[in-house]
Amino acid sequence: MTNVAVVGAQWGDEGKGKVVDWLSSRADVVVRFQGGHNAGHTLVIGDRTFKLSLLPSGVVRPGKLSVIGNGVVVDPWALMREIEQVRGQGVEITPETLVIAENAALILPVHGAIDRAREVARGASAIGTTGRGIGPAYEDKVARRAVRVCDLADPPLLRTKLDDLLAHHNLFLTGLGAEPMDRDAILAELDGVADRVLAHAGVVWERLDQLRRAGKRILFEGAQGAMLDVDHGTYPFVTSSSTMAANAAAGSGMGPGTVGFVLGITKAYTTRVGSGPFPTELHDEIGQRLGERGREFGTVTGRRRRCGWFDAVMVRQAVKTGGINGIALTKLDVLDGFDSLKLCVGYRHRDATLHHLPSAQAAQAAVEPIYEEMEGWGASTFGARSWADLPATAIKYIRRIEELIEAPVALLSTSPDRDDTILVRDPFVD
Ligand code: GDP
Ligand code: IMO
Ligand code: MG
Repeated sequence: MTNVAVVGAQWGDEGKGKVVDWLSSRADVVVRFQGGHNAGHTLVIGDRTFKLSLLPSGVVRPGKLSVIGNGVVVDPWALMREIEQVRGQGVEITPETLVIAENAALILPVHGAIDRAREVARGASAIGTTGRGIGPAYEDKVARRAVRVCDLADPPLLRTKLDDLLAHHNLFLTGLGAEPMDRDAILAELDGVADRVLAHAGVVWERLDQLRRAGKRILFEGAQGAMLDVDHGTYPFVTSSSTMAANAAAGSGMGPGTVGFVLGITKAYTTRVGSGPFPTELHDEIGQRLGERGREFGTVTGRRRRCGWFDAVMVRQAVKTGGINGIALTKLDVLDGFDSLKLCVGYRHRDATLHHLPSAQAAQAAVEPIYEEMEGWGASTFGARSWADLPATAIKYIRRIEELIEAPVALLSTSPDRDDTILVRDPFVD
């Protein structure tokens, strides 16, 4: 038996939440290790729908431990709102069921203000961030001035750190013509949540080490996706953390050997929300049809997601750079009823044929997809629960994807519902 890391293999929203929720029945602990409430993970369990941003997707299963690791940036107010919302849906969340790393960095109101002010200042070249302050919070962490969860228990230190933080950021905000932030107002707001956050604070690395040694199974839940990774993604149109499974270890305080099987969550087509290059994007009625059938609207910001054909070059790159051992192919049902389907098998750039996405911004924007066409299937795959229920042409499409990306399909998802999932190979079994 091994642990499993679930990561996005495209630009996010691949269905990580659904897959983590399904897999969590086989795990004891679910750990978020990066990102923050820029993530939006949807779980559909019968007639109940949960929309989670910061809480690990195992939180809805009784008896599982949920952990927010040190690599996550935590907005304490967003966290408390989410806990209340999920409690309102009948889920029990206590300091016994949810532990937050005491060394995780906080997202403060100043971070959201900077994020949004910067996006306005960027004008046409805006990244299209979620405006949640993710980037500025990670910057402060790396700049060694972040306020961390444990600082909430030390009011004098908190005051000094906020002074230091605001001395830096208010210069920038006023320079942009935005309102400066008031230290006492932030302190008062923090005072309103500090005790509730601290009730969940813990020494996560030690807890996870104990659980690991006791043979408990750990499921790491990534946010965003490989192409939003700060190193390997479509920089600068990326998020500000490493979204790769390698970061599951550092972002939770465990050794790299504990990560185990890396399951890349992959949509049967491609979507992206926000700006940046997207070689297989479709601006025609096919793109529109994918968006409508797939209900491609962002969970966090409600923005329409851009849609396009499956990009095997990009997913193969995610498999290689992220050490993906197998994929969970999701939303196959969205492709039901198309006469033919296209798979991107290479890029044309000037006179060259590329089998990777180049790093240069201009080249990323200029590459043109080289397509291979495949026959579609008329029959429905929606809600299929066994491989035998799939049309032969759908199986052919899946097999061709496996070949192109050089990774096997371990799991197949055929509807938003938890139970409409086909297990091909159990990622927890070595
Ligand atoms: P995440 O960010 O990776 O967790 O993905 P999101 O939850 O943001 O977006 C995925 C959306 O697709 C959600 O609304 C899911 O309920 C839905 N979904 C997941 N798997 C499937 C599937 O196999 N078929 C269909 N039709 N919808 C799915
Ligand atoms: P989940 O976990 C899709 C995108 C934003 C923007 C860029 C930077 O649900 O898959 P940020 O606010 O992180 O600084 O924004 O990253 N983005 C996501 N896109 N799914 C997500 O999370 C995302 N989180 C951030 O749209 O383009
Ligand atoms: Mg999402």
